[in-house]
Amino acid sequence: MSDQKSFQPSTKVIHSNRSYEKQSNSILFPIHQTATYIHESVGVTKGYGYSRGANPTVNALEQAIAAIEGTASALCFRSGMAAITTLCLATLHAGDHVILSEVIYGGTSRLFHQVLGNFGIDYSFVDTADLEAVASSVRPETRLLFVETPANPTLRLSDIAALAQIAHQHPNLLLAVDNTFMTPVLQNCLELGADISMLSTTKYIDGHNATIGGSLATHNEQLVERLRLVRKTVGTIQPPFDSWLALQGIKTLPARLAAHCKNAGEVAEWLEKHPLVTRVNYPGLKSFPQHELAVRQQKDFGGMLSFELKATTEQTLRFIDSLKLCTCAESLGSVETLITNPATASHCDLSAELRSRLGIGDGLIRLSVGLESPIDLIADFQQAFAVVFGERE
Ligand SMILES: Cc1ncc(COP(=O)(O)O)c(C=O)c1O
Repeated sequence: MSDQKSFQPSTKVIHSNRSYEKQSNSILFPIHQTATYIHESVGVTKGYGYSRGANPTVNALEQAIAAIEGTASALCFRSGMAAITTLCLATLHAGDHVILSEVIYGGTSRLFHQVLGNFGIDYSFVDTADLEAVASSVRPETRLLFVETPANPTLRLSDIAALAQIAHQHPNLLLAVDNTFMTPVLQNCLELGADISMLSTTKYIDGHNATIGGSLATHNEQLVERLRLVRKTVGTIQPPFDSWLALQGIKTLPARLAAHCKNAGEVAEWLEKHPLVTRVNYPGLKSFPQHELAVRQQKDFGGMLSFELKATTEQTLRFIDSLKLCTCAESLGSVETLITNPATASHCDLSAELRSRLGIGDGLIRLSVGLESPIDLIADFQQAFAVVFGERE
């Protein structure tokens, strides 16, 4: 077989680092649903001791993720939030300071406001698209720059290569990127210079709304060992069955992403032309203020977009309720098109003033474009416009 490192992503997710089950030669790697492992004699194991530390099925998923991240190893966690929390527990001490993107998943800001802040971790939310603002926010005690790009839910982009340059002027400052919206298939943040790639595997990696999970990947093997220790200590490893489901999902990741990108592009262009739509945030549109950065940094534009209607908040919520095909549900990155109102869902913990300053107004709609035909999705929007605004086309 040719060198696995030279495989294209669609081959890597199926074949790279693949382990086989030797007893029956089943084509699917089995689910090792076990808490513990037998010692052949005292202290002699096959490398697995207890499933809070490691499990072969979790390991199989980790190898598939490592293949697309381009790292020697990756680690899986029981949620994206468990991955971020483990990263913070592994790298931070009381008195340390963290810089985070100000437009960021609501759970990540809640982790700092309501949990880590209580343990003496200081933090600043900064517009990480503004490189000067980031550079001037770094303090001697800043240890982590945690960036989400594209950011949830405005799709605001941050320049990973430029941020890596800023971070690496400081010997102890790590750059971590929440790459959930893109995955390494569309944006390899480690290649762009980040130290840590974080994914909520709940989203595109699984792709079928079947599991909750997260991952971390880095070239820094010392950090990998520290993350393993903290994960084993606090018990944040992903369960084997969930890892097995995500392992089936990841095999179609590049194929699904290509369709997500195509569908989202068509829906974004249609929405942008609609007279009742005031703004569409989609990095693939020429009108997107950071379109040029998206072209430079991403391999494609992804399946996520957000938009606002020329309407009251009440009309906007009624519009969401009137959709029949697009499902109103939290989460993203699955085969089903999911729609949310971030102000009342993922970002409800932020004050109305802050949300409005960040572009997350009460009327913002976030759309995770699925794998249905865009013809049917657009027809669904048309009927919802007609219900709420009486529009006929
Ligand atoms: C960008 C982003 N990061 C992290 C998370 C948290 O992941 P999980 O729900 O798997 O804990 C989410 C969840 O929606 C997210 O959208």
